[in-house]
Amino acid sequence: MSTDTNRTELLRKLSRNLMVSVPVMTVVAMAGATAVSDNGFSLIPSAEAAQGEAESEAKGEAEGEAKGEAEGEGEAKGEAEGEGEAEGEGEAEGEAEGEGEAEGEGVSEAMKQAVRRPEGYQPYEGDADSLAKKGETLFNDTTLSSNGLACATCHTNGAGYADTFSNDYPHFVAMGKSDFGMDMVHLDEMVQICMVAPMASQPLDWASEELAALTEYMRIEQEKFRNK
Ligand code: HEC
Repeated sequence: MSTDTNRTELLRKLSRNLMVSVPVMTVVAMAGATAVSDNGFSLIPSAEAAQGEAESEAKGEAEGEAKGEAEGEGEAKGEAEGEGEAEGEGEAEGEAEGEGEAEGEGVSEAMKQAVRRPEGYQPYEGDADSLAKKGETLFNDTTLSSNGLACATCHTNGAGYADTFSNDYPHFVAMGKSDFGMDMVHLDEMVQICMVAPMASQPLDWASEELAALTEYMRIEQEKFRNK
């Protein structure tokens, strides 16, 4: 294994941890809703994604409990012990579902959809040179993320990419498959994937100059990567 591959693996783990910790933070924040608004913690940029998680978790628990109670009532007619058993079962189910959400894929269905090219997609068109210049600035911009990272934090001088980066787009990317269920990704979709996953942020507006700029800059990065 080359050091590059090891580093990519490390970065992938890091991104996973980030993806899991943001929803968890939000769940905690939502539990103390008053404290949230007072401290302004509700301004977590990826709140939409995290909220989805929190909601499904809450739903998992609620469903589990409700089911347990209903079953318990039914059985209670026969014997008192039935109630206890059924309730226990219900709760366990709820917890298991909640855990699955938190430890599982980590990305909400809405976000999985949001990183895919929309129907009738018309990318922003501009002069390639000025797009590349803007793209380089954005590549180093930590304000694009919710966690203080810039693309450059992971990808300076061709670092952090797997070998698939040399392939013509669209192509298979491990993170696209494992976290977003995509068999193939276009380069602009890859930018959106890294915006959502390692950067813990929102996808860029599909028609925006920013997305076109980052995509053009990444195209140049790919050329450099191929010639390394
Ligand atoms: C926390 C680290 C991290 C940050 C920050 C990050 N990425 Fe990535 N990026 C990765 C990892 C890990 C991979 C390898 C994914 C794989 O191969 O499964 C990757 C892969 C890529 C690829 C190549 C995928 C391929 O094989 O074709 C592109 C392009 C990319 N990132 C763009 C960006 C852009 C643009 C940003 C900023 C918006 C960004 N990345 C921010 C971790 C990061």
